[in-house]
Parts: sequence; structure tokens; C-alpha cells
Amino acid sequence: MEQKTKVKGNIHYVGVNDRVKHRFEAMWPLPYGVSYNSYLIDDEIVALVDTVDICYFEVYLRKIKQVIGDKPINYLIINHMEPDHSGSIRLIKQHYPDIVIVGNKQTFGMIEGFYGVTGERYVVKDGDFLSLGHHKLRFYLTPMVHWPETMMTFDETEGVLFSGDAFGCFGALDGGFLDTRINLDKYWGEMVRYYSNIVGKYGSPVQKALQKLGGLPISAICSTHGPVWTENIAKVVGIYDRLSRYDADEGVVIVYGSMYGNTEQMAETIAAELSAQGIRNIVMHNVTKSHPSYIIADIFRYKGLIVGAPTYSNQVFPEVDSLLSKILLREVKGRYLGIFGSFTWAGAAVKRMAEFAEKSKFEVVGDPVEMKQAMNDITYTHCENLARAMADRLKKDR
Ligand code: FEO
Repeated sequence: MEQKTKVKGNIHYVGVNDRVKHRFEAMWPLPYGVSYNSYLIDDEIVALVDTVDICYFEVYLRKIKQVIGDKPINYLIINHMEPDHSGSIRLIKQHYPDIVIVGNKQTFGMIEGFYGVTGERYVVKDGDFLSLGHHKLRFYLTPMVHWPETMMTFDETEGVLFSGDAFGCFGALDGGFLDTRINLDKYWGEMVRYYSNIVGKYGSPVQKALQKLGGLPISAICSTHGPVWTENIAKVVGIYDRLSRYDADEGVVIVYGSMYGNTEQMAETIAAELSAQGIRNIVMHNVTKSHPSYIIADIFRYKGLIVGAPTYSNQVFPEVDSLLSKILLREVKGRYLGIFGSFTWAGAAVKRMAEFAEKSKFEVVGDPVEMKQAMNDITYTHCENLARAMADRLKKDR
């Protein structure tokens, strides 16, 4: 049994898989499910690190008891209060009434607010220390990765970092939880989609956290979602580092709305010319078909963004408008932007997308292309010119 739960030393995995929920945070599709990870340190003093979504409490409690039997748990360390991890606090407290909750000043206000749980607590500050016997824990406050109370716990004895959401990804764990024992293919794409949609706005706090943790001798990262990282630590930290700097690969995301296929022909023309100009990474998203989480992930991946929309009731086509607000919310930085749009009797989409260009502070490339009703020779030429301007700008960075 132990082999199935053991992370390292006396540290055990007691997390659960959710293959039922359709949308994480009621917004983000979960085609491969998601795991809520929790860890048990079975030392002289026993500590539980984070909990799981309340829906899985029965399974969770059984997993805990399979490791420690009827032994009490002394500490419950709360690195993050979002309910996918904090959801079982009240029930854990009912089963282990003497448990002492460990968190920082911000944590306890939330515990009381969400769950009405009070009682004995250990309030930690940045750099504080807790000995469990063999395992020595140190706490690092990492606010806004992903909420204000977020912190990380580092086990100095084994070099294990309990990182909360950081370094996590979507995707339930099929069988094992260690990166050395499972096929990781599905997690890399889901890591980008998880980061860009959930944590994406907080690039600067993530950078601060990475600097704070930079010197630690980390041998394993135990995040709250996805595999436990051991052999892939450099790769995972590299992905988070790059995404949080809004650094991106050469490539273009063409995202557009189209009601009857005319605006779509503009997108196709631009894409074909980009390809002819030697740009290999071109991703096209029809906003009414692709879920925004996949579009956002691709915008984090690639440096170029070309947005197209018909005019709808004197506004930008609503699905494109909604996407633009999602991009602004995440404060994505440093993209090259192209704009195209259409109208039937009075143009508004292109004009309004220029307002987005200003707010986003993206570097606008080429001339915006505006089409009346359907493609003609001039529109083809203008679309190709826009594509060439984007290709030229990208090639300058080579
Ligand atoms: Fe997985 Fe921010 O919670």
C-alpha cells in the first residue's frame, strides 16, 4: 500500500480525482478531469497539507486512514483557500477536533468566512519554521499565486515544495501521481491552459515567488493539481517562468467571429499569406466554436495576434468582444496585434477594436482591414498586406 501513496520519506499523496465536473470554477472545460492534491506527512507529529473539494471527502478520509490508521493529525497546513482545496476543512476539523490549523494572517479570516471554523491556530509569517520531528518545514508567503493568502511550504528535510496552485495543471491522475510513473503527454498542454486562464493575470507575483524560491534545493514539487514533479522540475519551472513573463514563441493566433462566412474568408486569406511568408505556427480559432480557455492558452503561446469581427448592432460581434475583455483582464503583455472586421451598412467593429488595441498596449502591425459585405479584389490585397506586416514584424525578432 505504502508504495502507492509514498512521495518521499514519510510524505504521502492523499489527493483525489474529479472526473465528473464539467467546468472548473464553473468556466473552464475539463476534458481530462482534474485532481485535487493533498499530502500527509506521517512524522512524530503528523501534518496534513491542504485538503480537497468537499464532494470527495469520504474518499479522502479513507485515503488518510489508509496511511495513518487511527492516529490523530496534529496540524492542518493551509497553503491556499480556494474551495477546491479548502472545501474539506470543516469536515476534517469535525473528524480531528484537536487539529491545529496552520496558515498566515490572511488565511484565518477566510477560514472563518467560508466555513465558520475557529479554534486553535498557528499563524505563520514569511520564513517561519515548524518541526514535525524528522521533517522541518519552512513557510514562504507567495501572495496572489493565486489569491492574497497563498503561501508555500518547504520541507527542508526532503527538499519537497508544497506549492499550492503553482506548477499545477488540469488533468486527473490516471493511476500514479509521480511524474516518473505516468505518461505526461496530456499535462503539458493542460498546464498552459491552466496557467493562462487561472493564474494568467498574476505574472508579476509569480515572478516574485520564483525569485523567492530560486535558491531552494528542491527535489520534488507537490502542487495542488496534477502530477508530483521530480524529474521534470526544471521543465515545469521553465514553463511557469516563461508564461509569467508573457514570453511567447513565433506564431500567430487568428481569432475571429463570422456569421455567414464572409469575415471568415478574411481570416483564411490572412492565414494563407502568413504561411506563404514562412510562418509555421498559425492557430485559427472561430470564437463561436473554440472555448475561450483554448484561445487564451494559444495567445499565451504565440507572439502574434490577429483579431477579426463583424459589426453587430453597431458593436464588435459579441463573442469577440467577450474574448477581448478576457485578454485585457489577464493583462497579457507584449503581443503584436493585427485587426480586421466587416460591416453591412455601417462599420463599427474595426473602430471599436482599435480601442482594444490602445487599452492592451499591444504593438499594432499593418493597417486594419475593413470589409463591406463580402470579399473583393481590394479586400484580398489588404488582408495579404496585413499578413505580410505581421510576418515581417515576427521575423525581425528572429
Ligand atoms: Fe486550485 Fe486557486 O485553487
